[in-house]
Amino acid sequence: MDHFSYEHGALRCEGVAVADVAATVGTPCYVYSAGTLAEHHRRTRDAFAALDPLICYSVKSCGNLGVLRTLTALGSGMDVVSGGELFRARAAGCPPERIVYAGVGKRDDEIAAALDAGIHLLNVESEQEFENIARIARGRGATCRCALRINPDVDPRTHRFTTTGTKETKFGVDIERARAFFRAHGRDPHARLVGLHLHIGSPVTSTDPYVQAVTKALALREELLRDGFEVSVLDVGGGFAADYETGRSPAASDYARAIVPLLEPAVRAGLRIVLEPGRSIAANAGILLTRVQYVKTSGDRTFAICDAGMNALLRPSHYDAFHFIWPAAPGPGFAPHERTREPGMPGLVTVDVVGPLCETGDYLALDRRLPPPARGDLLAVFTAGAYGMSMASRYNSSPLPAEVLVSGEAFTVVRRRETYEDLVAHER
Ligand code: LLP
Repeated sequence: MDHFSYEHGALRCEGVAVADVAATVGTPCYVYSAGTLAEHHRRTRDAFAALDPLICYSVKSCGNLGVLRTLTALGSGMDVVSGGELFRARAAGCPPERIVYAGVGKRDDEIAAALDAGIHLLNVESEQEFENIARIARGRGATCRCALRINPDVDPRTHRFTTTGTKETKFGVDIERARAFFRAHGRDPHARLVGLHLHIGSPVTSTDPYVQAVTKALALREELLRDGFEVSVLDVGGGFAADYETGRSPAASDYARAIVPLLEPAVRAGLRIVLEPGRSIAANAGILLTRVQYVKTSGDRTFAICDAGMNALLRPSHYDAFHFIWPAAPGPGFAPHERTREPGMPGLVTVDVVGPLCETGDYLALDRRLPPPARGDLLAVFTAGAYGMSMASRYNSSPLPAEVLVSGEAFTVVRRRETYEDLVAHER
């Protein structure tokens, strides 16, 4: 699953004791494992090898340059969603021919940057957006490759905030409109419509929604091919799950078993597949380290008040998401055997793990079974590599956490902790 494990009572990331990272860098701090990133990339590549896909890691999940450089060096492409993410992908050295760009509201300057970079694919979400891309491309004497994002109206059975492939969401165009779209724009000489794009939601914890969505996309493609259009790319998007609890989510190989047979014939006949995994690569590759500042009881509740809250990791309060939390040095008898909501061991207490901010919604976990917490304990919040730092904020003028990348026995600070001067630098 990942390279975070307890050895002799202490949590290690690969060959590094995370307590040493906290002692050097301070808390809150994100710690990423390069070995885990590499392993998850390899597992995805191997699982889908029969399709030889272009794997475009979804930068929004964790866009730290150290992470992007690690994945670029492994041959990964990048899925970007803004001019800022395009800039990051380029700054990390990702070749433009491995970059795909989705996003419902691309501005003119962002489109121009994508055209100038010569990226692989612009994923288009609306008729107006396509017309705008074509206009900008024409004005620059450029050509670009576009895929039309279709909304297959498939329920991914995930949180409503991250459901993106049902018809009441803002994403893509429905299949009926897609036919008309190709008829209207399928032969534009500047913005060349060469494919279809899907992204149905995140995380999608069963394989069946992919089967439904891909089946619909392939049927549409057949029709479009019959009408003489080029549909040489199918971007299946991201959404593969991560192991927030040990062994509860499908692995890359499970998704591949369901999807590959559907796509293989078309791939043999020349279709190029793109995948955009984010969470399944980055989530288990990162933890958030936070220090317990105080422990207090109030009525029947015990609070462990930490130096990280919703500012550092928004997912628990925003999505009611579960992240396993455990002390980095849990003491004798408390080594966790698995990451689960109900660790079955004697001596645990029920704790609300909360942050320092001025809101009741500022928590990392409620009613959590933990070894009795004490002031000064170092806690690890697991499976925090995806949508952790990338959704962090400076609310309450909290400087953003530091980020550290571990590789083997060594760790590197890949983002230094912000200072108070950083907080006001753009206001001076
Ligand atoms: N491709 C597109 C077009 C996307 O919109 C996304 C994620 C991905 C790929 C990557 O999905 P992944 O493989 O990471 O599931 N903040 C939420 C997740 C939002 C995902 C948005 N789009 C969370 O913390 O759960």
